[in-house]
Amino acid sequence: MYIHWEKELELGNDLIDTQHRMLVLLCRKLDIAIKTRQSEQTIRWVMLELKKFTEFHFVSEENLMHEIGYPRVNEHALVHSELLLNLEMMLAKISHHKEFPEDLLHFLNKWLIQHVVNDDLKIAEFARHSDRRPLGEELYREYLLFEK
Ligand SMILES: [Fe+2]
Ligand SMILES: [Fe+2]
Repeated sequence: MYIHWEKELELGNDLIDTQHRMLVLLCRKLDIAIKTRQSEQTIRWVMLELKKFTEFHFVSEENLMHEIGYPRVNEHALVHSELLLNLEMMLAKISHHKEFPEDLLHFLNKWLIQHVVNDDLKIAEFARHSDRRPLGEELYREYLLFEK
């Protein structure tokens, strides 16, 4: 199992895409930490980094939905809560058993990719046609550096 950034994950929204790239990067970092048999402490640090960035991303995406007047914010936010809970459960499992389940990378891949291509895609499409522009949208291109 290999988690990596793919063109299909690019939704055409600068803020969302940049943060999704960071999420994929952190999943890969965890993947590398496990495969190169880093210390338990190091792996815990990486897991914390992934969890914190996930929390940040979800808040950021929910703010974006509010700003553009997306009609199903609560529904999407509920999915975020479930995803965060699933991630926390997986991380707790690792911490308690001190081993990495075979399905960890499969879980992360499914956990992240399916939400992006099924649910987040709808936000990006709505944002493209919405008259209400997100606060500071013009800043995204200035500060969020990535190649097109
Ligand atoms: Fe989302
Ligand atoms: Fe997202």
